[in-house]
Amino acid sequence: MKLIIINGPNLNLLGKREPSIYGNDSFDSYFEKLKGDFPNITFTYFQSNIEGEIINKLHEVGFDFDGIVLNAAAYTHTSVAIADAVKAIETPVVEVHISNTHAREEFRHKSFIAKNAKGVILGFGLDSYKLAIQSFFKFT
Ligand code: DQA
Repeated sequence: MKLIIINGPNLNLLGKREPSIYGNDSFDSYFEKLKGDFPNITFTYFQSNIEGEIINKLHEVGFDFDGIVLNAAAYTHTSVAIADAVKAIETPVVEVHISNTHAREEFRHKSFIAKNAKGVILGFGLDSYKLAIQSFFKFT
């Protein structure tokens, strides 16, 4: 199975950024653990702070990969273009958030992406990614 994790803006700062919300681990160190947990999955990782680059990556992998785990970060709450890209592709997308966005500011309660996603997992820290990956075993 070929899966890609796509992280949006500011998630390159995980481990340094607001650790009380996002924890102390860098994504790189968590990603190493994830790869060990799922030895039969071929993983690709992509992070960008640029909306158009995330859209280009969705187009690139979206007719070929078995699954996409997408944390579009702040673009979740603003980007019609990323939501349209998720709708346009064939590969199922699971939307992920580290924090429980519904327990935070009101502007984080809205996701443009959710209705075009296969499902949404949020609030479990970095393990939201692990739960999202497990969900692919059910629908591929
Ligand atoms: C986030 C939640 C977003 O509201 C925020 O803008 C992020 C990270 C999360 O993973 O909890 O950058 O997507």
